[in-house]
Amino acid sequence: MQQAAPRFPQFTFIYTDVDELDICNKIALDAFVKANGVNVIVNCAAYTAVDKAEDDVDLCYKINAEAVRNIGEVATANGVKVVHVSTDYVFDGTNYFPYSEDQAVCPATIYGKSKLAGEEALLETCPQSVILRTAWLYSSFGNNFVKTMMKLGTERDALTVIFDQVGSPTYAADLAEAILQVISHETFVPGIYHFSDEGVCSWYDFTKTIHRIAGIICDVKPIETKDYPAKTPRPHYSVLNKAKIKKTYGITIPHWEESLEKCIELLKA
Ligand SMILES: NC(=O)c1ccc[n+]([C@@H]2O[C@H](COP(=O)([O-])OP(=O)(O)OC[C@H]3O[C@@H](n4cnc5c(N)ncnc54)[C@H](OP(=O)(O)O)[C@@H]3O)[C@@H](O)[C@H]2O)c1
Repeated sequence: MQQAAPRFPQFTFIYTDVDELDICNKIALDAFVKANGVNVIVNCAAYTAVDKAEDDVDLCYKINAEAVRNIGEVATANGVKVVHVSTDYVFDGTNYFPYSEDQAVCPATIYGKSKLAGEEALLETCPQSVILRTAWLYSSFGNNFVKTMMKLGTERDALTVIFDQVGSPTYAADLAEAILQVISHETFVPGIYHFSDEGVCSWYDFTKTIHRIAGIICDVKPIETKDYPAKTPRPHYSVLNKAKIKKTYGITIPHWEESLEKCIELLKA
């Protein structure tokens, strides 16, 4: 968001992390919105440790559901719009065609259930909300799949990566751009929208492409999900249908490989 902001000079941005503003604290949220004359809240904060959430249910729901209700209530009380980031984990990944917004939700994990509860709380408390469900996010910041695979590919001669889970790798910069386009669009059309980069691949194909673009030589072999056990189930199919956001907000979405090249260029620099 901070990198994309200069292209949207009509807005004044205020960025907060938990140290400046804990979204679980409704009184602090309300005071912050009033003190700063906020008219749009973009909520990127969440509890995102998918496996840990299974044993940390209360905190996960506190951040992903109760705090989102706080945001919705404060927003409505102050006449503020909300853009909230959600996830493909509201589905269980058993589809075989891209998920659209009107498809029945069926989260299979505590994380997914808590994010769904957050969506419901926001829709209930703040009609002026846009919920953007996204998937497979990466960027040049923080820990993510791209950085891990670049590191492992450099350290090891060979790697095994799952090939029977497919989705659309999504550059966080593209999501940020989409959020800013939603906010700056002439009409704010509330509702749930799906957003990811274009194209589809497996984690295995994603890894091969990361290594090819980064010039890393590593023998990457495909394995099945059953050979890489995780504490919680991961969706086999995470592909989102983006027709609604493209039509409503006129957003053009790049192919994932094109965006991956930009991210790796930044990382190499
Ligand atoms: N990563 C993905 O592949 C993916 C896929 C689909 C959807 N999403 C969604 O995308 C959004 C961003 O995900 P991400 O992967 O960027 O997550 P992330 O790296 O874990 O970032 C979440 C941020 O929320 C902050 N936070 C946690 N509790 C807070 C609180 N009480 N008040 C204020 N800030 C708080 C965290 O701060 P600390 O670091 O200080 O705890 C962290 O900076 C989330 O809504 C997530 O559900 C992510």
